Amino acid sequence: MDHTVETTLTVNGVLVRRRIEPRQHLVDFLREELGLTGSHIGCEHGVCGACTVRVNGEIVRGCLMLAVQADGCTVETIEGLSDSKELSKLQKSFHERNALQCGFCTPGMLLAAQDLVRSGKKVSREEIREHISGNYCRCTGYQAIVDAIEEALNGQG
Ligand code: FES
Ligand code: FES
Repeated sequence: MDHTVETTLTVNGVLVRRRIEPRQHLVDFLREELGLTGSHIGCEHGVCGACTVRVNGEIVRGCLMLAVQADGCTVETIEGLSDSKELSKLQKSFHERNALQCGFCTPGMLLAAQDLVRSGKKVSREEIREHISGNYCRCTGYQAIVDAIEEALNGQG
């Protein structure tokens, strides 16, 4: 018996209509069905932030949301955002500041930091730390990541 659910969503600007298994999580759907492997899977419990994506503009954990819940929504992943002004700025500063080692946390970290850069607000290092507190990095000790985000913010002009 077919338990799949007809689901329509827009992913990185492309309309996607699929029959989806109701228990499949959004991050699994994006990775396995659409080949968008830039969103990573770490804890699968909403803790590490590796699976961060945007749904209707808001940051969400792709491992906590079911793909069928994204019916009618606009989903953006790191692949779709890599051409945005904020992301290129952040990618440049992450590269210059050596803010990544294994890179596992990086897509989620960039997506989380994008809001800060987009807001154009002046924020302290503590506020940057607070903002990325839901995104875990097991390699860098966060110092270089905060430096990179700070640099991208200061480069706002
Ligand atoms: S894999 Fe989703 S928060 Fe860790
Ligand atoms: S660079 Fe390896 S987890 Fe962050």
